[in-house]
Amino acid sequence: MTEPREKLELLTVRDLDAGYGDAQILWGVSLGIAQGEIVGLLGGNGAGKTTLLNIISGLNSPKTGSIHYLGEEITHVNTYNRVRSGITQIPEGRQLFPGLTVRQNLLLGSFSLADKSRVPEELDFVFDLFPILSERQKQLAGTLSGGEQQMCALGRGLMSNPKLILVDELSLGLAPVAVERIVEALKKVYREKSLSILVVEQDVHLCLELSTTAYVLETGHIVKQGPSEELAKDPQIRKSYLGI
Ligand SMILES: Nc1ncnc2c1ncn2[C@@H]1O[C@H](COP(=O)(O)OP(=O)(O)OP(=O)(O)O)[C@@H](O)[C@H]1O
Ligand SMILES: [Mg+2]
Repeated sequence: MTEPREKLELLTVRDLDAGYGDAQILWGVSLGIAQGEIVGLLGGNGAGKTTLLNIISGLNSPKTGSIHYLGEEITHVNTYNRVRSGITQIPEGRQLFPGLTVRQNLLLGSFSLADKSRVPEELDFVFDLFPILSERQKQLAGTLSGGEQQMCALGRGLMSNPKLILVDELSLGLAPVAVERIVEALKKVYREKSLSILVVEQDVHLCLELSTTAYVLETGHIVKQGPSEELAKDPQIRKSYLGI
């Protein structure tokens, strides 16, 4: 369990409607992330979690609604400029370049850094966080294990020196020991860098343990939100998501 450092709002999503073509997927979604806070996003398959993350990172556009970041409206700002201003997505399914080495994949994450002299420092931070990536830096990313690929994806995101990271399906398909390693690393990053995290996670226990605040998305609607500790005790959540 982590405590938010301060209650200053970093990102505010208001009344988003969004979808693909005629299909509306998100309905009036609002969500806030404070500076230094880990927010969890729960929801079943197809609820719209990835769609929401893609809208926050600028990969998808909403039909209506607004996004404010650091006090400024960014609803129509492109992805590149969002990355430059500190919003980084760790995509579902890692999406590494399998034919490039670990090091090359990591360096791609630093493309948006205005100050390129920071690259060695950022790379050292990632290698210190995941020593296995340092050992495997010349290996093709496509030959890494699932856990190592997730470490590489997280490392690549950190190379842009983010203020907000959007993690889509942190633990999906990974062995418990790999999940533990990555969660520890994420907590270390959170402690050492002044950043906020929005984490989409199918493992409800893990999601509520890691976050201070959580939202539940069902078929494109936010149906519950609140302190993660309280949601973990919520009878409906326990029944629907924890099976108890
Ligand atoms: N590019 C697309 N074009 C058309 N429909 C899409 C597209 N991407 C997603 N959808 C649809 O939007 C809905 C929400 O998908 P989304 O990927 O946001 O859900 P999710 O909550 O991330 O699900 P999962 O837990 O399976 O990752 C689904 O019905 C999906 O089929
Ligand atoms: Mg998804």
